[in-house]
Amino acid sequence: MCGIFGCVLNDGNAAPIIHAALKKLEYRGYDSVGEATLHNGELCIKKDQGKIDEVHKIHNLDDLPGNLGVGHTRWATHGAPLEVNAHPHVDCSGGIAVVHNGIIENFVELKLELENHGHVFKSKTDTEVIPHLIEETLKANPSLSLTDAVLETVRKLDGSYAIAVISTKEPDKIVCARYESPLVIGVNENAVYCASDIPAFLPLTNRAVIIEDGELVVLSPEGFEIRKIADSSVVVREPKLIDWTPQMAVKQGYPHFMLKEIHEQPACLRNTLRLQEHYLDLMATFLDRAREVFLVACGTSYHACLAASYMFSKLAFLATYPVIASEFVEQHGKSVNIDSTILTVSQSGETADTLASVNCARERAATVLGLTNAIGSTLTRVSRVYIGQQSGPEIGVAATKTFTSQLSVMAQVALRLAKKRGKVSQDEMDFLAEKLDKLPDTVEAIIQTQEEKAKQIAKKYKDAKTFFFLGRGISSATAYEGRLKLMEIAYVPSIAFPAGESKHGPISLVEQGFPVVFICPKDGTRRTLIGNIMEMKARGASIIAVVEEGDEEIKKLADEYMEVPKGIPEVLSPIPYVVPLQLLAYYMAIEKGHNPDTPRNLAKSVTVK
Ligand code: F6R
Repeated sequence: MCGIFGCVLNDGNAAPIIHAALKKLEYRGYDSVGEATLHNGELCIKKDQGKIDEVHKIHNLDDLPGNLGVGHTRWATHGAPLEVNAHPHVDCSGGIAVVHNGIIENFVELKLELENHGHVFKSKTDTEVIPHLIEETLKANPSLSLTDAVLETVRKLDGSYAIAVISTKEPDKIVCARYESPLVIGVNENAVYCASDIPAFLPLTNRAVIIEDGELVVLSPEGFEIRKIADSSVVVREPKLIDWTPQMAVKQGYPHFMLKEIHEQPACLRNTLRLQEHYLDLMATFLDRAREVFLVACGTSYHACLAASYMFSKLAFLATYPVIASEFVEQHGKSVNIDSTILTVSQSGETADTLASVNCARERAATVLGLTNAIGSTLTRVSRVYIGQQSGPEIGVAATKTFTSQLSVMAQVALRLAKKRGKVSQDEMDFLAEKLDKLPDTVEAIIQTQEEKAKQIAKKYKDAKTFFFLGRGISSATAYEGRLKLMEIAYVPSIAFPAGESKHGPISLVEQGFPVVFICPKDGTRRTLIGNIMEMKARGASIIAVVEEGDEEIKKLADEYMEVPKGIPEVLSPIPYVVPLQLLAYYMAIEKGHNPDTPRNLAKSVTVK
């Protein structure tokens, strides 16, 4: 996730306005920043790695000349957070500058084609193909307008994008386009703005136009014109009045970042489906070669590892050992060796316990693989291969969207490993790949239909003293995660364990009205799970079930239920089944009057052991 901004002013300097807008977008990414303006027929650029304030201190982002320009605040996806990878990116002539938020999936092919035509690339980004493609289009047809050249260019892009393009060829325009990355336009009497998000221009205007997927917009001193990318036809859309306070605007109208991030999951899952296949394959190759594989992480990331161990076992027939990072050195530090591989999962890439495990593994010559949301973090620097999960910054302390993205990446790696090892048929592969592709829509449907239900259940159980979270098989990982969410933000003591363990001790806690949450996908564990529900009911427990739509048998046993669409394969089930639990935890925190974004005693990144 990155932030883009652009403005065409009737008069005055664009640079300070771009700088202020980027500060408002900093929550979308903050590893590098850049601006480009047009002045006297020349492109002027400043960019560097580092946070906006740091870069401003060194380069002064306010003194670029010109009344038109674009800016970018970056969250690295392709290419490390270095000056050379910071946006704007330019073509060979240095006359076209582009800022981009999104992922161009076919950039490798496009880059090769452009290099064959003599284009020279400076960065490792996917974005850089865009200015070169525009340049190539104009070279082939010099009479084209900038708008038509951008139209032709974006028709060749696969993936997601919100772009803003400026060029010395038409120095009074910004051409923007959108597909699956947000883009909004702001207007007032003195200027027109484009941005990834409304807060960027909210101090300047509250009149905004939302740009839809597949649309291009031209900003000029005359205002804005929207066209459809498919057929260039003009779209008429009037600005809307936005009545958000600046506080609400940063959260896009949601009361808390956590709720916003729960709602962002469909978009984040779509991004994980755009990962470069090469890295997924590389990771699968390393796992295939390993004599023993440890999956190492803390907290929510550990729960992703736990679920992944079922995926690797069930799909690729590979035994892996999920280990809580703070225990790794004690438990395995002496035995880990050159034949061991540790796949380390960390949203932040900076968790001290996780990095201590990595250090121990490296000292003993083991192979370290990484999965993280923070490109440029320590984990990316010490991993032999790493995958950036591309969830965008997560601000709520409780991990939500990063968990489901981690699971999606792990499922993709497990599938590739299974293929490599010949453990799944082509039909099975195709079936699972199709289901994985549909998960963003499934999660979207769950949020739409179950949020109200979660709210009601939270209201009813807000005074409960303790909760159990139970599942079997891969759903025990979902249970652990549901329990962690409820405990950390609603401060409700909760216990999770594989449901089969009940009668080995914990069931003694159960008495009349004791709430027990069961995760009940229709998989091979269902019959025994129903037995576990019955044993809880017999002792007076109140059953809250997360069930498949139409599962009347479990619905009849349950006091409350939340539903998930039918037909989710077992190995993918933690992704949709955790979503109602995230919503339940969120609304429990609200009912109890706690701020879910900043739970007491916790920090987003735990850099001490
Ligand atoms: C829980 C949560 C924490 C983190 C844990 C690991 O909601 O956010 O449990 O999952 O501190 O953090 P990372 O993934 O950054 O290593």
